[in-house]
Amino acid sequence: MFEHAAAITDLPAGTMRCVTIRRHEVLIANVDGEVLATDDTCTHEDASLSCGVLKGAMVRCPLHGATFDLRDGAPGDEPAEEPLRCHDVMVEDGVIFVRLRER
Ligand code: FES
Repeated sequence: MFEHAAAITDLPAGTMRCVTIRRHEVLIANVDGEVLATDDTCTHEDASLSCGVLKGAMVRCPLHGATFDLRDGAPGDEPAEEPLRCHDVMVEDGVIFVRLRER
């Protein structure tokens, strides 16, 4: 089920933020007009990726510098080895909706 996440006007291109959906912290990012959603918590340790740095579709963890591709969750630079869980996104009438995926 898709759930309300944010207004698209609150997520300008090149930015990201954390939203809570069903008590789950989700990172949403606007990558060149495409909205992507993943888990917000780094797979290495307990850090909020939305506090890191977004460059294109890559996010860098603020704690130890691991990178993830938000398009598929794949880890890049160490120390993270596990991929991020990606979620489904729908944008309708200026509103971002996210559907959480199971592991
Ligand atoms: S917590 Fe993210 S790289 Fe360590």
